[in-house]
Amino acid sequence: MASIVFQFEDKSISPKTYQIVKGESVLDIAMDEDIGLHHNCGGVCGCSTCHVYISQGMDSFREISDREEDFIDRAINPKINSRLACQCVLDSDSDVIVIVPDQSALNGH
Ligand code: FES
Repeated sequence: MASIVFQFEDKSISPKTYQIVKGESVLDIAMDEDIGLHHNCGGVCGCSTCHVYISQGMDSFREISDREEDFIDRAINPKINSRLACQCVLDSDSDVIVIVPDQSALNGH
């Protein structure tokens, strides 16, 4: 078990810390805890709306696939530490920090 900290580009939302276990995805935790994170395709690597940035612990997640990379390229403001939350499955017991992009930019997607 590890801790996962959600930080938000929207500074009106305070950081939140939860527990995550191997085999769970960032999107799993976000949905369980009512974190506002779009997931328009339902978590099957078919969109880019669950785009997040990994601030700490990139190596703690399963490797990125070519398909995920393709969808990240279509996300708003992708960076070197971008991942799709539904594909970000924990594969270690190391703590991670995730930055949630401003979801208001996704309205209408
Ligand atoms: S919810 Fe669509 S790619 Fe993650």
